Amino acid sequence: MTPPESLVGAVLPRASAGRLVGDTAMTLRAAGIPSPRLDAELLVGHAFGRDRAWLHAHPEAELGGGEATLLAGWIERRAAGEPIAYIRGFKEWLSLRIATDPRALIPRPETELLAETAITEIAARLVRDGTTVAAWEVATGSGAVALAIALRFRTAIALGRLRLAASDLSAEALELASENLGAHGVGGMVTLACGDLLEPAALPGGRADLLIANLPYLTSAEVETGSGSLAWEPRRALDGGTDGLDMLRRLIVALPEGLAADGVALLEVGEGQAAPVGEMLAGLPVKASVTTLTDLAGIERVVRVALP
Ligand SMILES: C[S@@+](CC[C@H](N)C(=O)[O-])C[C@H]1O[C@@H](n2cnc3c(N)ncnc32)[C@H](O)[C@@H]1O
Repeated sequence: MTPPESLVGAVLPRASAGRLVGDTAMTLRAAGIPSPRLDAELLVGHAFGRDRAWLHAHPEAELGGGEATLLAGWIERRAAGEPIAYIRGFKEWLSLRIATDPRALIPRPETELLAETAITEIAARLVRDGTTVAAWEVATGSGAVALAIALRFRTAIALGRLRLAASDLSAEALELASENLGAHGVGGMVTLACGDLLEPAALPGGRADLLIANLPYLTSAEVETGSGSLAWEPRRALDGGTDGLDMLRRLIVALPEGLAADGVALLEVGEGQAAPVGEMLAGLPVKASVTTLTDLAGIERVVRVALP
């Protein structure tokens, strides 16, 4: 029997894992996918229900017929450009398995800094203040950031020391966020609310001690011409208007109303946006103290705003 050149549409019967990875990588490379070998390992590993380390250790393993058919479909989808996270249905993020699908943005590695900073901020407040801390993640999307916070502070939430809310304009994204929270056993611990920026009454009492937001911050042109996953993700999750700053501009104007006295906002920004965001903050009627945190790529990624 002559083996087929491509795995798309025709999977080798009883092909070994090593062979499947090689052939899948070849197909994805020919389709112009930028990381064909890695993606091949992720897809073939997924077909085996195993991770890449297992795949490397078992190159001789053979895939069953049903799984091989599934794999062929996944390769076809990846070759057409669909993100791996949508094909596999999850993304590993901050050591958590976040369910992903076209209802929401795929969480990005750089957003781990936002979640880690929020966790540090909440921990410091819980130690410092004897009172309840109210934290609100605006624009939660898949719910990844709120989930990381809820898991870290289960006890504080159960004791009523931390009130945690998450909101989004997209009801679909909130559905996914709710599924992610439920899958990790913290479904009842986060109040979810649907609406524009700070409009939904997500927190009793209204104002937050900590606001966390990764709003859309790409320019419309970047979204239209962008490569990779951008064409597959909800436009509402990406498009920040002509200069990318439309949403941040609107949220910043609302900060004095949304934050409690001594409140802090953590805003994720795109490359080169920390300076213009700092200028917007300087224009607020209250004097905010502004610092920036840099991500692993050396980009100023989180703007921390403390109100008096
Ligand atoms: C860049 S995604 C961030 C998702 C998630 N927090 C993360 O970091 O992966 C931006 C999110 O903002 C939401 N969004 C867009 N416009 C909004 C608005 N006016 N009010 C609230 N959320 C909005 C989108 O639906 C999307 O889920």
